[in-house]
Amino acid sequence: MHKVIFDTDPGVDDAMALLFLARHPEIQLLGVTTVFGNAAIEVTTRNALFLREAFGFDAPVAQGAGRCFDPNRGTGHFPHMIHGANGLGDIQLPEPAHRRPLDHDDAAGFIIDTVRANPGEVSIIAVGRMTNLALALRRDPGIAGLVKDVTLMGGAFFVPGNVTPAAEANIHGDPEAADLVLTAPWKVYVVGLDVTGQTQMSRPELAALAPKSQALTLLDALSQRYIDFYDALIPDAMLVHDTCACVHLVRPDLFTRTEGAMRVVCEGIATGQTILKPQGRPFPPGDWDGLPVQAAVTGVQSAAVMALVAETL
Ligand code: BDR
Ligand code: CA
Repeated sequence: MHKVIFDTDPGVDDAMALLFLARHPEIQLLGVTTVFGNAAIEVTTRNALFLREAFGFDAPVAQGAGRCFDPNRGTGHFPHMIHGANGLGDIQLPEPAHRRPLDHDDAAGFIIDTVRANPGEVSIIAVGRMTNLALALRRDPGIAGLVKDVTLMGGAFFVPGNVTPAAEANIHGDPEAADLVLTAPWKVYVVGLDVTGQTQMSRPELAALAPKSQALTLLDALSQRYIDFYDALIPDAMLVHDTCACVHLVRPDLFTRTEGAMRVVCEGIATGQTILKPQGRPFPPGDWDGLPVQAAVTGVQSAAVMALVAETL
Protein backbone atom coordinates (compact mmCIF):
# COMPACT_ATOMS: atom_id res chain seq x y z
CA MET A 1 0.00 0.00 0.00
CA HIS A 2 1.32 3.46 -0.91
CA LYS A 3 0.59 6.17 1.67
CA VAL A 4 0.14 9.32 -0.42
CA ILE A 5 -0.12 13.07 0.11
CA PHE A 6 -1.47 14.57 -3.11
CA ASP A 7 -0.48 18.21 -3.67
CA THR A 8 -2.65 19.65 -6.42
CA ASP A 9 -4.22 22.69 -8.14
CA PRO A 10 -7.52 21.32 -9.50
CA GLY A 11 -7.61 21.77 -12.50
CA VAL A 12 -9.10 19.41 -15.05
CA ASP A 13 -6.24 16.91 -15.36
CA ASP A 14 -5.81 17.15 -11.57
CA ALA A 15 -9.43 16.01 -11.21
CA MET A 16 -8.73 12.86 -13.21
CA ALA A 17 -5.61 12.20 -11.13
CA LEU A 18 -7.63 12.58 -7.93
CA LEU A 19 -10.19 10.06 -9.15
CA PHE A 20 -7.37 7.67 -10.11
CA LEU A 21 -5.86 7.92 -6.61
CA ALA A 22 -9.25 7.57 -4.93
CA ARG A 23 -10.04 4.42 -6.91
CA HIS A 24 -6.64 2.68 -7.00
CA PRO A 25 -6.59 -0.28 -4.57
CA GLU A 26 -2.92 0.18 -3.61
CA ILE A 27 -3.25 3.87 -2.69
CA GLN A 28 -4.05 5.13 0.80
CA LEU A 29 -4.74 8.85 0.43
CA LEU A 30 -3.49 10.50 3.64
CA GLY A 31 -4.41 13.99 2.51
CA VAL A 32 -4.95 16.42 -0.32
CA THR A 33 -3.04 19.71 -0.16
CA THR A 34 -4.00 22.56 -2.46
CA VAL A 35 -1.90 25.18 -4.20
CA PHE A 36 -2.54 28.05 -6.58
CA GLY A 37 -1.78 27.42 -10.26
CA ASN A 38 -4.56 26.46 -12.62
CA ALA A 39 -6.65 29.02 -10.68
CA ALA A 40 -6.41 31.12 -7.50
CA ILE A 41 -5.97 29.24 -4.22
CA GLU A 42 -9.57 29.87 -3.08
CA VAL A 43 -10.77 28.30 -6.34
CA THR A 44 -8.46 25.26 -6.34
CA THR A 45 -9.34 24.59 -2.68
CA ARG A 46 -13.08 24.90 -3.38
CA ASN A 47 -12.58 22.46 -6.27
CA ALA A 48 -10.73 19.95 -4.08
CA LEU A 49 -13.61 20.03 -1.56
CA PHE A 50 -16.16 19.65 -4.36
CA LEU A 51 -14.26 16.72 -5.89
CA ARG A 52 -13.94 15.01 -2.49
CA GLU A 53 -17.72 15.02 -2.25
CA ALA A 54 -18.30 14.08 -5.90
CA PHE A 55 -15.74 11.26 -5.94
CA GLY A 56 -16.61 10.03 -2.44
CA PHE A 57 -13.22 9.90 -0.79
CA ASP A 58 -12.55 10.70 2.83
CA ALA A 59 -9.02 12.17 3.08
CA PRO A 60 -8.50 15.56 4.75
CA VAL A 61 -8.03 18.62 2.55
CA ALA A 62 -5.48 21.27 3.57
CA GLN A 63 -5.28 24.65 1.87
CA GLY A 64 -1.80 25.78 0.86
CA ALA A 65 0.05 28.58 -0.86
CA GLY A 66 -1.73 31.32 -2.75
CA ARG A 67 1.41 32.85 -4.22
CA CYS A 68 5.00 31.99 -5.11
CA PHE A 69 7.74 30.96 -2.70
CA ASP A 70 9.48 34.26 -3.58
CA PRO A 71 6.66 36.69 -2.69
CA ASN A 72 7.91 39.19 -5.28
CA ARG A 73 6.71 36.85 -8.02
CA GLY A 74 3.05 37.02 -6.94
CA THR A 75 0.78 34.49 -8.59
CA GLY A 76 1.40 34.85 -12.33
CA HIS A 77 -1.50 34.45 -14.76
CA PHE A 78 -4.14 31.76 -14.34
CA PRO A 79 -4.73 29.66 -17.49
CA HIS A 80 -8.48 30.21 -17.78
CA MET A 81 -8.40 29.36 -21.49
CA ILE A 82 -7.34 25.78 -20.58
CA HIS A 83 -9.09 24.93 -17.30
CA GLY A 84 -11.90 27.52 -17.34
CA ALA A 85 -12.33 30.45 -14.96
CA ASN A 86 -13.61 28.05 -12.28
CA GLY A 87 -10.72 25.60 -12.86
CA LEU A 88 -13.11 22.79 -13.77
CA GLY A 89 -14.00 23.55 -17.37
CA ASP A 90 -16.60 26.18 -16.43
CA ILE A 91 -19.26 23.56 -15.75
CA GLN A 92 -21.98 24.61 -13.31
CA LEU A 93 -20.87 23.55 -9.83
CA PRO A 94 -23.56 22.70 -7.27
CA GLU A 95 -23.97 24.93 -4.23
CA PRO A 96 -21.93 23.69 -1.26
CA ALA A 97 -25.03 23.35 0.92
CA HIS A 98 -23.79 20.51 3.14
CA ARG A 99 -20.23 20.19 1.91
CA ARG A 100 -17.71 19.01 4.48
CA PRO A 101 -15.51 22.02 5.27
CA LEU A 102 -11.77 22.44 4.90
CA ASP A 103 -9.80 20.36 7.44
CA HIS A 104 -6.60 22.47 7.63
CA ASP A 105 -5.51 25.90 6.41
CA ASP A 106 -1.75 25.26 6.45
CA ALA A 107 -0.70 22.69 3.84
CA ALA A 108 3.01 22.94 4.65
CA GLY A 109 2.27 22.23 8.32
CA PHE A 110 0.00 19.34 7.33
CA ILE A 111 2.78 17.85 5.18
CA ILE A 112 5.32 18.17 8.03
CA ASP A 113 3.00 16.63 10.64
CA THR A 114 1.92 13.77 8.37
CA VAL A 115 5.48 12.91 7.35
CA ARG A 116 6.69 13.00 10.96
CA ALA A 117 3.79 10.77 12.03
CA ASN A 118 4.66 8.21 9.30
CA PRO A 119 8.48 8.26 9.07
CA GLY A 120 9.83 6.62 5.91
CA GLU A 121 6.36 5.76 4.64
CA VAL A 122 4.89 8.79 2.88
CA SER A 123 5.00 9.29 -0.88
CA ILE A 124 4.27 12.85 -1.98
CA ILE A 125 2.81 13.38 -5.45
CA ALA A 126 2.90 17.07 -6.44
CA VAL A 127 1.13 18.11 -9.62
CA GLY A 128 0.98 21.89 -9.30
CA ARG A 129 3.48 24.59 -8.35
CA MET A 130 5.99 23.13 -5.85
CA THR A 131 5.35 25.96 -3.39
CA ASN A 132 3.87 23.90 -0.53
CA LEU A 133 6.75 21.43 -0.65
CA ALA A 134 9.30 24.25 -0.64
CA LEU A 135 7.57 25.93 2.32
CA ALA A 136 7.54 22.63 4.22
CA LEU A 137 11.26 22.09 3.50
CA ARG A 138 12.15 25.60 4.64
CA ARG A 139 10.19 25.22 7.87
CA ASP A 140 11.44 21.71 8.64
CA PRO A 141 14.39 20.57 6.48
CA GLY A 142 14.50 17.29 8.43
CA ILE A 143 11.41 15.99 6.63
CA ALA A 144 13.51 15.36 3.50
CA GLY A 145 15.10 12.35 5.20
CA LEU A 146 11.73 11.03 6.40
CA VAL A 147 9.76 11.09 3.13
CA LYS A 148 9.74 7.82 1.17
CA ASP A 149 9.77 9.52 -2.24
CA VAL A 150 8.48 12.54 -4.15
CA THR A 151 6.88 12.34 -7.59
CA LEU A 152 6.42 15.58 -9.50
CA MET A 153 4.40 16.39 -12.58
CA GLY A 154 6.55 19.11 -14.05
CA GLY A 155 9.45 19.99 -16.25
CA ALA A 156 10.65 19.18 -19.74
CA PHE A 157 14.15 17.78 -20.28
CA PHE A 158 14.46 16.65 -23.91
CA VAL A 159 11.28 18.21 -25.37
CA PRO A 160 10.05 21.84 -25.51
CA GLY A 161 8.05 23.40 -22.68
CA ASN A 162 4.36 24.24 -22.81
CA VAL A 163 4.31 27.81 -21.49
CA THR A 164 7.57 28.89 -23.12
CA PRO A 165 9.88 26.97 -25.46
CA ALA A 166 12.02 26.28 -22.38
CA ALA A 167 9.57 25.74 -19.54
CA GLU A 168 6.64 23.64 -18.36
CA ALA A 169 3.81 25.35 -16.45
CA ASN A 170 4.23 23.88 -12.95
CA ILE A 171 7.95 24.71 -12.84
CA HIS A 172 7.67 28.04 -14.64
CA GLY A 173 4.92 29.11 -12.22
CA ASP A 174 7.28 28.95 -9.21
CA PRO A 175 10.87 28.24 -10.29
CA GLU A 176 12.54 28.98 -6.93
CA ALA A 177 10.26 26.47 -5.21
CA ALA A 178 10.98 23.81 -7.84
CA ASP A 179 14.74 24.38 -7.60
CA LEU A 180 14.62 23.91 -3.82
CA VAL A 181 12.57 20.72 -4.16
CA LEU A 182 14.86 19.22 -6.82
CA THR A 183 18.05 19.95 -4.86
CA ALA A 184 16.80 18.71 -1.47
CA PRO A 185 18.15 15.41 -0.10
CA TRP A 186 15.12 13.26 -0.90
CA LYS A 187 14.38 11.06 -3.89
CA VAL A 188 12.45 12.87 -6.62
CA TYR A 189 10.92 11.32 -9.74
CA VAL A 190 10.22 14.05 -12.27
CA VAL A 191 7.37 13.10 -14.57
CA GLY A 192 7.45 15.90 -17.13
CA LEU A 193 6.35 16.64 -20.66
CA ASP A 194 8.88 14.11 -22.00
CA VAL A 195 6.36 11.44 -21.01
CA THR A 196 3.09 13.24 -20.22
CA GLY A 197 3.17 14.58 -23.78
CA GLN A 198 2.67 10.97 -24.84
CA THR A 199 -0.19 9.97 -22.51
CA GLN A 200 -3.50 11.07 -23.92
CA MET A 201 -7.15 10.10 -23.69
CA SER A 202 -9.42 10.75 -26.66
CA ARG A 203 -12.87 12.32 -26.42
CA PRO A 204 -14.55 9.04 -27.50
CA GLU A 205 -12.54 7.05 -24.92
CA LEU A 206 -13.65 9.41 -22.15
CA ALA A 207 -17.24 9.37 -23.42
CA ALA A 208 -17.21 5.57 -23.31
CA LEU A 209 -16.19 5.67 -19.62
CA ALA A 210 -18.76 8.33 -18.69
CA PRO A 211 -21.83 6.09 -18.21
CA LYS A 212 -19.97 3.76 -15.82
CA SER A 213 -20.31 6.03 -12.74
CA GLN A 214 -21.48 9.47 -11.63
CA ALA A 215 -17.86 10.42 -11.03
CA LEU A 216 -16.94 9.55 -14.62
CA THR A 217 -19.98 11.39 -15.97
CA LEU A 218 -18.75 14.45 -14.10
CA LEU A 219 -15.16 13.95 -15.30
CA ASP A 220 -16.37 13.75 -18.90
CA ALA A 221 -18.38 16.97 -18.53
CA LEU A 222 -15.65 19.02 -16.87
CA SER A 223 -13.03 17.86 -19.42
CA GLN A 224 -14.78 19.13 -22.56
CA ARG A 225 -13.30 22.63 -22.54
CA TYR A 226 -9.82 21.24 -21.84
CA ILE A 227 -10.15 18.86 -24.80
CA ASP A 228 -11.29 21.79 -26.96
CA PHE A 229 -8.13 23.66 -25.96
CA TYR A 230 -5.89 20.71 -26.78
CA ASP A 231 -7.62 20.21 -30.14
CA ALA A 232 -5.10 22.49 -31.83
CA LEU A 233 -2.25 20.26 -30.63
CA ILE A 234 -3.79 16.77 -30.52
CA PRO A 235 -7.05 16.31 -32.41
CA ASP A 236 -9.98 15.33 -30.16
CA ALA A 237 -7.90 14.24 -27.18
CA MET A 238 -6.41 15.52 -23.93
CA LEU A 239 -3.06 15.03 -22.26
CA VAL A 240 -3.44 13.40 -18.84
CA HIS A 241 -0.36 15.05 -17.30
CA ASP A 242 -1.18 14.64 -13.62
CA THR A 243 -2.60 11.12 -13.83
CA CYS A 244 0.60 10.03 -15.59
CA ALA A 245 2.59 11.04 -12.50
CA CYS A 246 0.25 8.99 -10.29
CA VAL A 247 0.69 5.94 -12.53
CA HIS A 248 4.46 6.23 -12.13
CA LEU A 249 4.11 5.67 -8.39
CA VAL A 250 2.17 2.41 -8.74
CA ARG A 251 3.72 1.07 -11.97
CA PRO A 252 7.27 2.44 -12.37
CA ASP A 253 7.98 -0.57 -14.60
CA LEU A 254 5.93 1.11 -17.35
CA PHE A 255 8.50 3.94 -17.58
CA THR A 256 12.23 4.48 -18.11
CA ARG A 257 14.34 7.05 -16.29
CA THR A 258 17.53 9.07 -16.73
CA GLU A 259 19.32 9.94 -13.49
CA GLY A 260 21.37 12.99 -12.57
CA ALA A 261 21.54 16.20 -10.56
CA MET A 262 18.90 18.77 -11.51
CA ARG A 263 18.52 22.53 -11.33
CA VAL A 264 15.84 24.99 -12.41
CA VAL A 265 16.63 28.23 -14.24
CA CYS A 266 15.25 31.07 -12.09
CA GLU A 267 15.83 34.16 -14.21
CA GLY A 268 16.06 35.29 -17.80
CA ILE A 269 14.55 34.01 -21.01
CA ALA A 270 14.76 30.34 -19.95
CA THR A 271 13.07 30.84 -16.55
CA GLY A 272 11.49 27.56 -15.46
CA GLN A 273 13.72 25.35 -17.60
CA THR A 274 14.66 22.07 -15.91
CA ILE A 275 18.27 21.02 -16.53
CA LEU A 276 19.65 17.52 -15.95
CA LYS A 277 23.38 17.06 -15.42
CA PRO A 278 24.47 13.91 -17.26
CA GLN A 279 25.90 11.39 -14.80
CA GLY A 280 29.56 10.55 -15.10
CA ARG A 281 30.34 13.62 -17.22
CA PRO A 282 33.12 15.76 -15.67
CA PHE A 283 32.52 19.51 -15.33
CA PRO A 284 34.66 22.17 -13.62
CA PRO A 285 33.80 22.57 -9.90
CA GLY A 286 30.75 24.79 -9.34
CA ASP A 287 27.08 24.99 -8.58
CA TRP A 288 26.44 21.40 -9.68
CA ASP A 289 28.68 19.71 -7.09
CA GLY A 290 27.25 17.64 -4.26
CA LEU A 291 23.65 17.72 -5.45
CA PRO A 292 21.40 14.70 -4.94
CA VAL A 293 20.82 12.39 -7.89
CA GLN A 294 17.20 12.62 -9.02
CA ALA A 295 15.32 10.71 -11.71
CA ALA A 296 13.93 12.30 -14.86
CA VAL A 297 11.24 10.05 -16.30
CA THR A 298 12.04 10.02 -19.99
CA GLY A 299 10.29 7.00 -21.52
CA VAL A 300 6.76 5.61 -21.25
CA GLN A 301 4.74 2.64 -22.47
CA SER A 302 1.79 4.87 -23.32
CA ALA A 303 -0.74 2.20 -24.30
CA ALA A 304 -0.18 0.22 -21.09
CA VAL A 305 -0.39 3.38 -18.95
CA MET A 306 -3.67 4.47 -20.56
CA ALA A 307 -5.15 0.96 -20.24
CA LEU A 308 -4.39 1.04 -16.50
CA VAL A 309 -5.91 4.53 -16.21
CA ALA A 310 -9.15 3.47 -17.91
CA GLU A 311 -9.40 0.28 -15.83
CA THR A 312 -8.76 2.12 -12.54
CA LEU A 313 -11.14 5.00 -13.22
C1 BDR B 1 0.56 20.95 -15.69
O1 BDR B 1 0.09 22.30 -15.64
C2 BDR B 1 -1.25 22.33 -15.20
O2 BDR B 1 -2.00 23.13 -16.04
C3 BDR B 1 -1.76 20.94 -15.27
O3 BDR B 1 -2.72 20.67 -14.26
C4 BDR B 1 -0.53 20.09 -15.09
O4 BDR B 1 -0.26 19.85 -13.73
C5 BDR B 1 0.90 20.62 -17.14
O5 BDR B 1 1.94 21.43 -17.61
CA1 CA C 1 -1.99 20.26 -12.02
